[in-house]
Amino acid sequence: MHLGIIIYSQSGNTREVAAKLKEKLISSGHRVDLEEITINGKTPAQTGQFELTAKPDPGDYDAVVFGSPVQAFNLNPVMRRYLEQLPGLKGKKAACFITKHLPVKWSGGTQAVNKIQKACESKGADFKGAEIIIWSAGQKQDNIDQAVKKLVALF
Ligand SMILES: Cc1cc2nc3c(=O)[nH]c(=O)nc-3n(C[C@H](O)[C@H](O)[C@H](O)COP(=O)(O)O)c2cc1C
Repeated sequence: MHLGIIIYSQSGNTREVAAKLKEKLISSGHRVDLEEITINGKTPAQTGQFELTAKPDPGDYDAVVFGSPVQAFNLNPVMRRYLEQLPGLKGKKAACFITKHLPVKWSGGTQAVNKIQKACESKGADFKGAEIIIWSAGQKQDNIDQAVKKLVALF
């Protein structure tokens, strides 16, 4: 399967998970491209105060995994903007992962997943699942490995 991992990462955490996911998907026999959404404007991005300078096209892929941080108890505004212009995903599988700092409920993880899932389904994708990685939690590396394993198992 040809998979695209499409991410936004401001400080590198989401990129780190994406690189690991790419490596494991390739070991499972998939062809994988990792693409990043980029912006101009200051970070952290504030809604209405940045432009997307790279908008990866999911069109080539059989399946797409979106990766994004939480920002201000919600999906990062860069990924939100990207999803607004998402083309049709009919016939594609989709999944996502979220990185966040706070190890407590109601701090944006589920909210972020819901936004990505809704956007994917509204474009016709078959949404297979999501993982949330809490950066401040103990055993972070194990948590990343577990999340990556579960994501790989979706495809
Ligand atoms: C401006 C800002 C707001 C944030 N808000 C939240 C938040 O509401 N909840 C949370 O759990 N983490 C929050 N974080 C932490 C990031 O989600 C976390 O560090 C994430 O892994 C960063 O991913 P990145 O390195 O790929 O940019 C915030 C970070 C920044 C910079």
